[in-house]
Amino acid sequence: MTKRGKFGDRPGIPDDDLDVQTRAGAPMPLVTHPMAAVRPPTGGDGGARALAHTVPLPPDSERGMAIEPRPTVTMQRFEGGALAPASREPPPEIGLTQHHLPDDATPDPRLILHLAPDSERAAQFRVLRHHLLECGRPQVVVVTSPKGGEGKTTTAVNLALALAECGRAKVLLAETHLRRPQLAGVFRFVPPWCFAEQLAAHRHQPLLPWGLVDIPQLWLHVGAVNPRAEQAQLLDAPAFAIAMERLRLGGYDHIVIDAPPVFGTAEVNLLQDAADGVVLVARGKHTTARDLRRAVDQITASKVLGTVLLEE
Ligand SMILES: Nc1ncnc2c1ncn2[C@@H]1O[C@H](COP(=O)(O)OP(=O)(O)O)[C@@H](O)[C@H]1O
Ligand SMILES: [Mg+2]
Repeated sequence: MTKRGKFGDRPGIPDDDLDVQTRAGAPMPLVTHPMAAVRPPTGGDGGARALAHTVPLPPDSERGMAIEPRPTVTMQRFEGGALAPASREPPPEIGLTQHHLPDDATPDPRLILHLAPDSERAAQFRVLRHHLLECGRPQVVVVTSPKGGEGKTTTAVNLALALAECGRAKVLLAETHLRRPQLAGVFRFVPPWCFAEQLAAHRHQPLLPWGLVDIPQLWLHVGAVNPRAEQAQLLDAPAFAIAMERLRLGGYDHIVIDAPPVFGTAEVNLLQDAADGVVLVARGKHTTARDLRRAVDQITASKVLGTVLLEE
């Protein structure tokens, strides 16, 4: 049913949707796509329902009720970025260390596209890829959620794997949650170069070479923070901006950032300035509608590409 909201010149988008998913001032047009909920690794039989429609948050969302496991994803069209502005700067030098997922260790269950490529859950991440590409092929995408443990790393990893699948795009997955680095553990390597240390070094010497890990079987490059290295607890925003400026020239179609949560610091606000868009993750029966709303309020509305609901 078409309903006209208080932003009544956008037919078909009820007020409740607009309250959460975008706000006045967001660039027009807003394109609303039906999206899919994706089950986390612990999600039962491994199947996931394809979700055929976009729904508003529950009406009692103001009371901070847990979100029902329903699809609530919209994506805004991204107007710039993927085609990075032409630059005369030389591309960054990138040194790669090859890594193969070990056969003798149990893979991290968050590697859904690797572990169960034919599952419906994997398919939902391909749907997410599809909608992200429809948003104008954003090059630098920050994946975050209101709080910890809501599926940021799961989403960032599988979105990156879906984008890179079969070498269809050149993808870098990097992390900036310095207090809780996860990527080295997910892929089971010790980072030869800590991504956080490289951010610090490149802040002063932007033309230094980069050191990243290449995982050929996944067609993926990874910039992981060494969980054992001593480093600052908070992200250095100018260092991240400089890094993205350089790495954008490295031939990557997409750079997916596994970011810290929105609440507690201004880190995501600083990250979004150097990114083309933010994907906001909510965890079914865990993330409250109020938290999601507050997180959207904290992020610049025009930078929110959409929200992804990970179903229990
Ligand atoms: N929607 C969910 N339902 C059940 N478990 C989840 C969900 N999202 C994440 N998890 C689990 O919670 C843990 C943290 O997930 P992760 O993706 O690392 O979250 P974050 O990066 O936000 O801290 C993982 O073990 C993951 O399997
Ligand atoms: Mg994480």
